[in-house]
Amino acid sequence: MIMKLVVIIVLLGIVGAALSQSTAMDLFTGFLPVSLTEGTLTTKVLVSFAALIGTYLLLSWFLSPIYFGRSLLSVNKELKNPESYKKKMDEYSKLFDEKKEGLDEAKIEERNKEYMPMVNTFYDLVTDVYEWAWGESFHFGPRHRRETLPQSLARHEHFMAHTLGLRPVMRVADVGCGIGGPMREIARFSGATIVGINNNGYQINRATQHNKTAGLDHITEFVKTDFLHIPVKDGEFDAAYAIEATCHAPDKVVSYREIMRIIKPGGLFGCYEWVMTDKYDPTNKEHNKHKHDIEEGDALGDIPHWKVVNDAVKEAGLELIEYRDLGVPTPQNPVGWWVGFSPSFSLSGFKLTKPGRLMTYVFVVLIELLHIAPKGTSKMHRTLIRAADGLNAGGSKQIFSPCFYFKARKPLNAK
Ligand SMILES: C[S@@+](CC[C@H](N)C(=O)[O-])C[C@H]1O[C@@H](n2cnc3c(N)ncnc32)[C@H](O)[C@@H]1O
Repeated sequence: MIMKLVVIIVLLGIVGAALSQSTAMDLFTGFLPVSLTEGTLTTKVLVSFAALIGTYLLLSWFLSPIYFGRSLLSVNKELKNPESYKKKMDEYSKLFDEKKEGLDEAKIEERNKEYMPMVNTFYDLVTDVYEWAWGESFHFGPRHRRETLPQSLARHEHFMAHTLGLRPVMRVADVGCGIGGPMREIARFSGATIVGINNNGYQINRATQHNKTAGLDHITEFVKTDFLHIPVKDGEFDAAYAIEATCHAPDKVVSYREIMRIIKPGGLFGCYEWVMTDKYDPTNKEHNKHKHDIEEGDALGDIPHWKVVNDAVKEAGLELIEYRDLGVPTPQNPVGWWVGFSPSFSLSGFKLTKPGRLMTYVFVVLIELLHIAPKGTSKMHRTLIRAADGLNAGGSKQIFSPCFYFKARKPLNAK
């Protein structure tokens, strides 16, 4: 659509220039294949304007893969040392074997054992790229046709606050809080005090800065820890939520049980979990490739079927109140959560098309060779592209969802 608009504007610019025989805009549009001398002032202004917009859009479209490649340069300060970047990238990628067909149980076990260094390394490497490309909230959500991505993500966060009945007097745990996008939105929306739990120091620093800038540091706090072992007393919180974070837990039962421990009896826990759906066929090679791409591109051990998640909630001792997959498009939310990863000849989708990928790749290899980017950057590009491919295929085939919602309660008689 945008591409068509670009072409029409550029063509209009050229045709208009030819008709008006203007030289006024030669200043801006030296590329026009016409030499022009006459035309009314209005025509000259309009034509110049159209040609400028056309040129701008065309350049943005053409340069978007390079812009994407450049964004990979934005890595956290602690990793400015090129050697540490490459080392981290190598450590990370050895936990995945893309050539192995079907489910690779041995690698899944290794990743589950190494979950904490794997997740920390991953977020050390990608946090700034994510923030640049996606924003301050590192999750997906259902989306209306007339909604922007940030609006839809905020609405998804408001839904969580609303369903848990969060209010100003409450103290609430945000389990796996990222750089605090949801925490800030939910603190503003509900007035509750939100305590972010995260084991990634770089993300906590980033979140702390953002909270200060947003004037929310008086109702936001952090605990830097593994969410499987949270160093707070039983029943510390009125409620807890986890937004696309417990997907990284190697054992769902253990992680839900720990979350249950830190909330008061009768308190609610809301979660957006990553799951395989009923359309996923574990004997289908393509399905398993998409699943593996998502796991590799997003630092996951294994993505469970949604029924496994529900069973884990109950096994942990929580009362399951409600659950549904919010990732399935509906008449109110027809825009699939995966559209941002679909290759297309639009401004945003071009970098994911074959020529777009090639351009980014060549650019990244070049800056790596010139020592502008640390070694390992091209490997990171491949990992991110694999994630995009897996999410796009998993979403459009509806075999995978990152928006499986459930709400559970800690029983009143639990300790
Ligand atoms: C996909 S991000 C989601 C972040 C945040 N909920 C959001 O929506 O913006 C997953 C987060 O979980 C955190 N995380 C993953 N495993 C963890 C663990 N075992 N302990 C603490 N935090 C963890 C990561 O550091 C990251 O911040």
